[in-house]
Amino acid sequence: MSTTTHARQLVDEARELFASCHGASELENAKARYLGKSGAITALMKDLARLPAEQKREQGAEVNLAKQAIEQALQARRDALAEAELRQRLAEEAIDVTLDGRGQRRGGLHPVVRSWMRIESLFRSMGFEVAEGPEIEDDWTNFTALNSPQDHPARSMQDTFYVDVEDERGQPLLLRTHTSPMQVRHARAHVQAFAGSPDMPDIRVIAPGRTYRVDSDATHSPMFHQFEGLWIGRAVSMADLKGLYTGFLHGFFERDDIELRFRPSYFPFTEPSAEIDMRFDSGPLRGRWLEISGAGQVHPTVVRNFGLDPEEFMGFAFGSGIERLTMLRYGIGDLRQFYGSDLRFLEQFNAA
Ligand code: DAH
Repeated sequence: MSTTTHARQLVDEARELFASCHGASELENAKARYLGKSGAITALMKDLARLPAEQKREQGAEVNLAKQAIEQALQARRDALAEAELRQRLAEEAIDVTLDGRGQRRGGLHPVVRSWMRIESLFRSMGFEVAEGPEIEDDWTNFTALNSPQDHPARSMQDTFYVDVEDERGQPLLLRTHTSPMQVRHARAHVQAFAGSPDMPDIRVIAPGRTYRVDSDATHSPMFHQFEGLWIGRAVSMADLKGLYTGFLHGFFERDDIELRFRPSYFPFTEPSAEIDMRFDSGPLRGRWLEISGAGQVHPTVVRNFGLDPEEFMGFAFGSGIERLTMLRYGIGDLRQFYGSDLRFLEQFNAA
């Protein structure tokens, strides 16, 4: 076989072999078979040395061409393998840019908090202060100062969460069972601030906040919200309460077809005491009396505990449930929904 034919055969063979290589090291081994120290092309080059000058030039040119062709084929295969590898890596490391972003979900106010804020702003607009006080309360302020006798059922272990800590009177602290102790705290601070001055303005305050009772069913939760109202002055009557509370309900429910009635009741800290019932004159609850608040004229003993003379000062108080009002406003049937953390429920209150 002539050198030329041999050289061309080697080129074809090398192209084929390179094409069958699938990795860089396999390809470098294949290269050695032709261009390495003992490779076939290298051997041809060595053979040239033994040829006469004329043939050496001719065949040398052929061998050189073959060598270049193999080098080209090698480089082409290297490039092809590198590109295939890159493509595979890109495919493996691909990020699916069509996936939805996680975004920033916007939180919203809890429906009870919405009511709380509405209540504050409505009473502020009617000239009331807003006060807040401790949820861990002492026995005297939660019960005794409010004229609840030692054997009153509200004081029993069944109704009240007691805290394993005693106050300076040696009585256990408790989670306040109502917001009524805020009457005592606020009134005493008010009286002290005016220190018997004849110019003392009326006490007009609401105190919203959390309250706690051992109680749990569709209409009771161990933690719930109330707002206490107190108006004490020299000539404040239950008639003022009716006007005030009617105005509040019109604002809260954003409607005027609301009727109120006071139904006789009993609370230790008021005399007389009443339940405030309301009814709508239209809508799904039309005509049904709904109990919404306890109320009454503040008991003389309690007025005295405020630090005031009940012969001179009188007024009324009320305590209403914020959950109850919220349920009526939005038509919610089960109070436990407020505390189930179910976003499908809660998000309904966050529209715009
Ligand atoms: N504290 C009472 C309760 O939780 C509600 C209440 C009734 C508050 C009459 C008052 C009131 O201020 O005068 O059931």
